[in-house]
Amino acid sequence: MRFEQPVTIALAKGRILKDTLPLLRHAGIELRDDPDRSRKLILDTNHEQVKVVLIRATDVPTYVQWGAADLGVAGKDTLLEHGGEGLYEPLDLKIAKCRLMVAGKPDASLEGQRLRIATKYVRATKQFFAARGQQVEIIKLYGSMELAPLVGLADLIVDLVESGNTLKANGLVPLEHIMDISSRLVVNKASWKMKHATITALVKTLEEAVGRQQQP
Ligand code: PRP
Repeated sequence: MRFEQPVTIALAKGRILKDTLPLLRHAGIELRDDPDRSRKLILDTNHEQVKVVLIRATDVPTYVQWGAADLGVAGKDTLLEHGGEGLYEPLDLKIAKCRLMVAGKPDASLEGQRLRIATKYVRATKQFFAARGQQVEIIKLYGSMELAPLVGLADLIVDLVESGNTLKANGLVPLEHIMDISSRLVVNKASWKMKHATITALVKTLEEAVGRQQQP
């Protein structure tokens, strides 16, 4: 496709970048720099008008919200925590799939009041337990949640589970499925209006790429 207007796409290094690049390739966008070797944060592509910025996964919604990037790819978990202000979420890219789960020691229970829950996902955790009519105490962590029940910091954790290997390696078990997670395309609301033709064409091409990848 042709890009009549400049477009900046925000991506996070790691799995999102790795899984997004084939979708962008389908839209005819190829990186000029190798993100594994380069330490550059603004990457050129084969289209002069299209740039990719590399940022932390949790910062992607913020960059897009403020229009520092027109589009971005962010996990549904990250979007729930951010709140989604200033963003459209037009497409589920069906990549980086995992589950948001409550987990704990094998003898742990979800019942009871004032359970202590360690998590990076404060909003989603609050919503989940509020819907069950339970008051819980949430302890915000930034990673390695699995440690919290082992050292008595929390009764339970709410974390992403993909293979389940991290839970198993730490003697924990999944107790309750909160929601399925995948990465979403997000678009700045002003860019959506100002660069409508370019962005909707890109969304359509990416949608085709997602459909193609889903075929067996
Ligand atoms: C995620 C998540 C779990 C792990 C689950 O952590 O927080 O710890 O992956 O994957 P598994 O079920 O396949 O073992 P990540 O590696 O993304 O790092 P984080 O702790 O910084 O979130």
